[in-house]
Amino acid sequence: MSTKVAIIFGGQSSEHEVSCISAATIIKNMDTSKYDQVLIGITKEGKWLFVENVGRIEDGSWVDGHRTAVFSPDATKKEILVLHRDGTYESIGIDVVFPVLHGLYGEDGTIQGLFEMAGLPYVGCGVLASAVSMDKLFTKIIVEHLGVAQAKFEEVRAYQLREDLEGTLDRIEAALPYPVFVKPSQAGSSKGVSKAANRQELIDALNVAREHDSKILVEETINGREIECGVLGTTNHAEASCVGEILAASNAAFYDYDAKYNNADSKTVVNPELPDGKADEIRDYASKIFSAVDGFGLARVDFFLERETNRVVFNEINTLPGFTSISMYPMLWNEMGKEIKVLIDELIELALKREPK
Ligand SMILES: Nc1ncnc2c1ncn2[C@@H]1O[C@H](COP(=O)(O)OP(=O)(O)O)[C@@H](O)[C@H]1O
Ligand SMILES: [Mg+2]
Repeated sequence: MSTKVAIIFGGQSSEHEVSCISAATIIKNMDTSKYDQVLIGITKEGKWLFVENVGRIEDGSWVDGHRTAVFSPDATKKEILVLHRDGTYESIGIDVVFPVLHGLYGEDGTIQGLFEMAGLPYVGCGVLASAVSMDKLFTKIIVEHLGVAQAKFEEVRAYQLREDLEGTLDRIEAALPYPVFVKPSQAGSSKGVSKAANRQELIDALNVAREHDSKILVEETINGREIECGVLGTTNHAEASCVGEILAASNAAFYDYDAKYNNADSKTVVNPELPDGKADEIRDYASKIFSAVDGFGLARVDFFLERETNRVVFNEINTLPGFTSISMYPMLWNEMGKEIKVLIDELIELALKREPK
């Protein structure tokens, strides 16, 4: 009998569009002889919809659907309820969930909490790992304990900007030289991230970041190559992939949203030329960081390799990394001999074998 997989995509985060592309890739590459799919799309407004097929994701028409599909939180049922317009409903039994959601309300532990309540196995990190990894400030606190280098930073809260802007700017300027990177503690796809070279730009950057989160990080700029590593496995047995490099288009100020998704000149290079031992050092840190945050299933861990010093500097961990056909995570595992179909299968198998709490 086939395993029934519920794939959830879209979502209320600023990374909604990327999620739809990742989901279409996963749906089309899933072994249909083994898995039966049920598709649920969450609109930007937060409406849950039953989606008939992947074509409706690709042409965007799924958002016009009329049938609501929701999880029953009842752990004895393990079902999705599809509500019809006439007030009747249909119940679809589910074996496992594959949340293909990036960012808030998807990668941050909130929806994972719902699956826990419903007693449903699900792909990827649990509540704690998701929440810690989504919040860059908390990730830093954990990684600090591992002794892995990170960019120096100042934490800024929205109320500090409201109540004492001058004092807050003075504090940042005393701690960090310009240019600085300003980012929301919880965001992704470079949304709300900007580089500031002076006080006025810093004010502007803080205002942009606070639209995404009331907690903001201001970091020293690391002049480095951007190297990423995939992790697959369990907290206790985390396997690191080979590494890849991001080459932002030369006309981009940094790897911002446009450079990531709209600029064909941005490139990803698998197994880039690196100084001796650096790839292994990065792989070692990646699996250690994954385990330290209680990671499960998958994550992509991102680093800088500082140009002048060759120092490996941790940047961030993504517990549901981009999963499009040109995304780094599936490309790295493909290089390791795991085709995307096999990778998806392993992720679902891991979810089904996860030890109960
Ligand atoms: N401290 C930093 N020094 C240099 N570049 C940075 C720094 N922080 C972020 N960046 C640049 O901004 C991009 C997005 O920041 P990141 O922290 O990865 O946030 P996101 O979660 O949105 O991907 C990075 O890929 C990098 O190009
Ligand atoms: Mg990033």
